[in-house]
Amino acid sequence: MGKQLTAPAIKARKGGDKITMITAYDEPTARIADRAGADVILVGDSVANVVLGRGETLAMTVDEMVYHTAAVMTAEPSSLVVGDMPWLSYHTTPEEAVHNAGRLIREGGAGSVKLEGGRKRLDVVSAVLDAEIPVMGHLGLTPQSVHAMGGYRVQGKQAAAAYELITDAKALAEAGVFAIVLEGVPDVLAQMVTDEIAVPTIGIGAGAGCDGQVLVFHDVLGLHDKRTAKFVRQYANLADVAVEALEQFFADIRSGAFPGEEETYHMPAESAEILREISKGSSTLRGSGIATDSFLADEAMEQ
Ligand code: KIV
Repeated sequence: MGKQLTAPAIKARKGGDKITMITAYDEPTARIADRAGADVILVGDSVANVVLGRGETLAMTVDEMVYHTAAVMTAEPSSLVVGDMPWLSYHTTPEEAVHNAGRLIREGGAGSVKLEGGRKRLDVVSAVLDAEIPVMGHLGLTPQSVHAMGGYRVQGKQAAAAYELITDAKALAEAGVFAIVLEGVPDVLAQMVTDEIAVPTIGIGAGAGCDGQVLVFHDVLGLHDKRTAKFVRQYANLADVAVEALEQFFADIRSGAFPGEEETYHMPAESAEILREISKGSSTLRGSGIATDSFLADEAMEQ
């Protein structure tokens, strides 16, 4: 893993090579994402749905997001790591938002944070930016607003709502965010936003016109068998691969085919001989001054 990408470097990609972004929640998923060439790794609050089995992202706390961000950082990825600010971590006061964003940076090790919302969150966005923390915006179908939206619905389908979203995007870009995620919006709207703002847009269910694309790790790799949104493209079915592998493992245990010669430690013949003597009677061992079990075990581990 090489030098880490920065938020300004991502911002500079506006209109250039498409930005690749994927979620990750721990060391192995971050390593895989980084090896595959992710520009940006998002430690998303979607961890609630795809890792923790919780129904919605609203369940996540700052402590938990810090924990997962720190786990991702142990992979030392060269991708820019974005820590997702969970619900209620930035909805009260700008001071609290700065404190919580700071925890994702200082304790989690992220290089930036993401938060949902437009003009309504502008004071918070500005406060976090003033604390020298790069911010990624998130507009459209913002899952933390699930109850206010009346469900997970495509946003900005009507002209008035679309216009509001464009205004939000412009306000965020002018405030200084380095990129904006556009989720669950019509392609025409995403294209208009992309054309009108000076920072990259990263789409998820927002059509092909954005400056980059993001999906959830477990959705792309088929690590679960839950229903996914229309915008998900599944590139592998690793859950089925894993089940087949485990079925084979268990079958090998049952048949005695595992462990085989390759997976077995051996001890020198003379140690085995001594051991046989020992097993004939512990009194023989005590009287012989021969090394004890722990010596034999140490020796065995080296074979
Ligand atoms: O939490 C998440 O995974 C997200 C992305 C889907 C954008 O916010």
